[in-house]
Amino acid sequence: MDYAAIVREARRLRDEVVRLRRRIHSYPELAFEERRTGRLAAGYLKALGLKVRSGIAKTGVVGLLDIGAKQTIGLRADMDALPVTEQTGLPFASRIPGRMHACGHDAHVAMLLATARLLCRHRNELRSNVKFIFQPSEETPPGGAAPMIRAGALERPHVDAMFGMHCDSSLPTGKIGIKHGVAMANADNVNITVIGRGGHAARPHESVDAIATAGAIVSILQTIVSRNINPVEPTVITLGTVRGGTKSNIICDRVEMQGTMRSVTLSTRRKLPALVARVARGVANSMGAEADVQVFRGYPLLKNHAAAVRQIVSLSHKLFGNSSVVFLEHPVMGAEDFAYYLRKAQGAFIRLGTANPRKKSIYPWHHPKFNVDEDALPVGVALFAALALGHPDETA
Ligand code: NI
Repeated sequence: MDYAAIVREARRLRDEVVRLRRRIHSYPELAFEERRTGRLAAGYLKALGLKVRSGIAKTGVVGLLDIGAKQTIGLRADMDALPVTEQTGLPFASRIPGRMHACGHDAHVAMLLATARLLCRHRNELRSNVKFIFQPSEETPPGGAAPMIRAGALERPHVDAMFGMHCDSSLPTGKIGIKHGVAMANADNVNITVIGRGGHAARPHESVDAIATAGAIVSILQTIVSRNINPVEPTVITLGTVRGGTKSNIICDRVEMQGTMRSVTLSTRRKLPALVARVARGVANSMGAEADVQVFRGYPLLKNHAAAVRQIVSLSHKLFGNSSVVFLEHPVMGAEDFAYYLRKAQGAFIRLGTANPRKKSIYPWHHPKFNVDEDALPVGVALFAALALGHPDETA
């Protein structure tokens, strides 16, 4: 199958992929609740005649296009939506109050299903088996990828190369964004509890003010990035919540804060919890309070494999022309559980441009007006299909 034919067939599947995307978009489901979406995917794959396993890691689905090859290529879509109230006004907007596909995972599922249809028509031209992996819960760590892998999603047959794709409203529709090496950050969460001693607001000398202590911790925490980490290495510490106190005339005895720590190397990932704990406890102690620090490990950094990046670039040029690829200069400090697949198989994570000002598909991920330009969907299908029609040796 030549490259022009792949693009042509993907374009012919446009109505199909749009129909699927809109159907999924109307019924968004949160992490590990993707039963309806999982059923849709499993039913669609079965109708194509694929071997299907469902209920993996609760709602995950794996379809296998088995041509009896020695090698297998895996393609992944995430299925979960977000607790966002949709404000797009689209005719196929969410019908579930407070739930929205505000990250484009509806498009990911639709593209992967349409890719399965395209590849089934061309199974004679495949050189590898293809696994279609639909996972729950990308948005909520510890996520769906790790339990899918533990449940054997990458075995029987073993997956040699793995690709995932994410819509990106910062790239024009149809552009393929790719990053060499580290593409996304390590992300671990931290809870800090400041424990003081309550009392009357007018008698601070008899109390230990947890709010004043927390304020000092909030400021000094930012010196970790500026003073303790190599300045050429992107690192983020953000506190997302600070909660404490009940009334203006009461000295607060307890403040709870939640934050996230982002880094792009393993050594910094290892260092950050101890640095945060040292600041929180040290500052608290200096003010007569105490701090309890708990760290929750999130997703590891996502590192694209060099040969897989080369393959994506070369295929994109052949499919869509030489100006189709945007090389991303910096990693994104967000995190993605696709990282776990890339620890088990060669591969890469691709960004698919969906920004089109005329269609207002320019809002960032998780925004209540987030939307995907559907003209991008056949582009994603063509690239997925071309990757599957390749050979894992080209990725290794
Ligand atoms: Ni997402």
